[in-house]
Amino acid sequence: MIKAYTQATFIFLFICFTAVGNYVFAQSDTAIDKRVATLLAKMTLDEKIGQMNQYNGDWDATGPVTKDVGNKLDEIREGRVGAVLNIMGTAHVKTFQDAAMKSRLKIPLLFGQDVIHGYRITFPIPLAEACSWDMDMIEKAERIAATEASASGINWTFAPMVDIARDPRWGRVMEGAGEDPFLGARIASARVTGFQGDSLGSTDAVMACAKHFAAYGAAIGGRDYNSVDMSNYTLWSIYLPPFKAALDAGVATFMNSFNDLNGIPATGNSYLQRDVLKGKWDFKGFVVSDWGSIGEMINHGYVKDNYEAAQVAITAGNDMDMESRSYINNLKQLMADGKVPVSMIDESVTRILRKKFELGLFDDPYKFINAQRERTSLNRPENVEFARDMARKSIVLLKNDKQVLPLSKDLKTIALIGPLVKAKKELKGFWSLDVDPKENVVSLWEGMQKQIGPLTKMLYAPGCDITDASRIGFADAIAAAKQADVVVMAMGEKPDMTGEAKSKSNIHLPGVQEELIKAVAATGKPVIVILMAGRPMIFNWTADNVPGILYAWWLGSEGGDAMADVMFGAYNPSGKLTMTFPRSEGQIPIYYNHYNTGRPALNDNDLFYKSAYIDLPNSPRYPFGYGLSYTTFQYSDLESDKLTSTIKDNETISFSFLVENTGKYAGEETVQLYIRALVSQPLRPVKELRDFRKVRLLPGEKRRIVFTINRALLAGYNNNLDYVAHPGDYQLMFGSSSADIRLQKTIQLVN
Ligand code: GLC
Repeated sequence: MIKAYTQATFIFLFICFTAVGNYVFAQSDTAIDKRVATLLAKMTLDEKIGQMNQYNGDWDATGPVTKDVGNKLDEIREGRVGAVLNIMGTAHVKTFQDAAMKSRLKIPLLFGQDVIHGYRITFPIPLAEACSWDMDMIEKAERIAATEASASGINWTFAPMVDIARDPRWGRVMEGAGEDPFLGARIASARVTGFQGDSLGSTDAVMACAKHFAAYGAAIGGRDYNSVDMSNYTLWSIYLPPFKAALDAGVATFMNSFNDLNGIPATGNSYLQRDVLKGKWDFKGFVVSDWGSIGEMINHGYVKDNYEAAQVAITAGNDMDMESRSYINNLKQLMADGKVPVSMIDESVTRILRKKFELGLFDDPYKFINAQRERTSLNRPENVEFARDMARKSIVLLKNDKQVLPLSKDLKTIALIGPLVKAKKELKGFWSLDVDPKENVVSLWEGMQKQIGPLTKMLYAPGCDITDASRIGFADAIAAAKQADVVVMAMGEKPDMTGEAKSKSNIHLPGVQEELIKAVAATGKPVIVILMAGRPMIFNWTADNVPGILYAWWLGSEGGDAMADVMFGAYNPSGKLTMTFPRSEGQIPIYYNHYNTGRPALNDNDLFYKSAYIDLPNSPRYPFGYGLSYTTFQYSDLESDKLTSTIKDNETISFSFLVENTGKYAGEETVQLYIRALVSQPLRPVKELRDFRKVRLLPGEKRRIVFTINRALLAGYNNNLDYVAHPGDYQLMFGSSSADIRLQKTIQLVN
């Protein structure tokens, strides 16, 4: 039963839409809007509702499959479908577009796909790419993905996923950029620009889709699809910035999310979709539901049936229905019952058709269907090489005691031990598209073999399985280790332990893998552990006792070559973590940009003055922004371009300092700028990332790095949710990680 207040909302919106509906059409004067209006005028109500309906295709199901459905091609021919997803390859795409061309008005279909980290070439998972902090590289990776996908008939990717995540138990952390809103926003922008290119309509550009709107990453307990409950202050400060960045970058579509937010399912949340997205932010694209999420409002207990679900969803601003059939089966009746005005349907259809015109689909419905281009665009050597470079830059060096890395190519014997040494398809991670792993994924074993010297012997022992408790392989592993000069262990999760519906309560290195590491380390040989996973894992014994540790995530097609490049020093690792690594699940959620509290844990011995656990240090295992190099960097000589440290009005102040490579390897450093509003109402975090610079330096080389501070860089949300920089003292912290501040300065912002 819809509550009284909601009915009032509908009536209010009904009146608004009669006005707004005219406004949208009357004011739009671009050629495309005229074409849209002309087409809309010809459409029957059934055809309009058909444009708001999206079906899954025949390649794969990425959600719960609806049973007992009719013939989708027939429905397309009848004009009852506006978009499909999961159709692989131009031949299949053509079959579906041919059906659309048989409909009365020949309105072309959109073809969507989860091109999350590559299409045919698989790039590192997004959480790994984020560790590169390299916006140009990330943008180019999406450019390549878009080129490959659009050559295969896809014109819409359900990416970038821009959900901020502070809980590594959540399996979908692998899809995003981690815990920070500033970095997440920069990466969202880079990904949208990469996918959409200079403008939609080019045959190598696809529509991007900012998802999942909103706050899906804050699911309680890290359990996928779970409820989210937070203040608007946290929503705006932490979870919305990447979506706004995607919108500012011109993202064509948004996808809402499965979760309820403060008691209202996101799919039926008019605050998110109308007040914020289409109102305050003036979004002109369209919103697609997540798979079945309109109908799932019944499960939420928010509506009684699909009839009410359709009414709530369209009233809240959801334009297209992915796979729930709520719209196609109920909108016509809702309109006849006076519960949904035709102007609301027209507004959604206008948004959808506008994108089809922008893509150029009405001028040529087959522009993305070119078998010749498909053959020549996939797996191009230069793009494969780029994927290797992207993978190298995604690797994070967590530990390198006694400089056990890089390895010499003159080693006599290297033992490669562990269940992931010869892994191939695993390296693609979740949300990778189905290609033959034999054909285009390089394993660690293969990568190392290509690079060892002629006199070096490689031994192999799996040692154990990823999850199995059997220790039967330990003896062979220990025997191999004893014959070797150095041991490289490839350990981690299974690729389907992260991704959608893959939350875990225990994120320790699975199975008996850490026991194997202990047993091999007991041989006294130098051990390097490479960890592969889609999330931060917990591996405390390894972190305390193994001299060399690399976090390799899931690096995609070129992972083996990239890992070998780093192991042998062809590339000096430069990755920096974008999610905090906890010591225990008990610490979660743990993130760097927390408030100070009234009793901050200044050290682990404080008694009453410690907002901490009595059984665990309060610090994380590895902090946000952390990552080592084979070389070292020194920061010095902090200077300001002003004698005063006060800025007012729209003045700026620039700080510069020297960064010097004080080691013996060329390397890249990501210099991070954190700020802290020392007194603020409402509270501001003890650190907030607000800028960063990547700098590559030769051994002994120094470079002066400059950061310019202005009001915008210091701003935050006030109690009225205005984004302002209030007067006061701000601490500026320049560091190599959020926990490794090298230089700092306090400035005053007046008035
Ligand atoms: C899935 C995911 C969403 C994806 C969609 C289509 O359930 O939540 O991210 O884009 O369905 O595959």
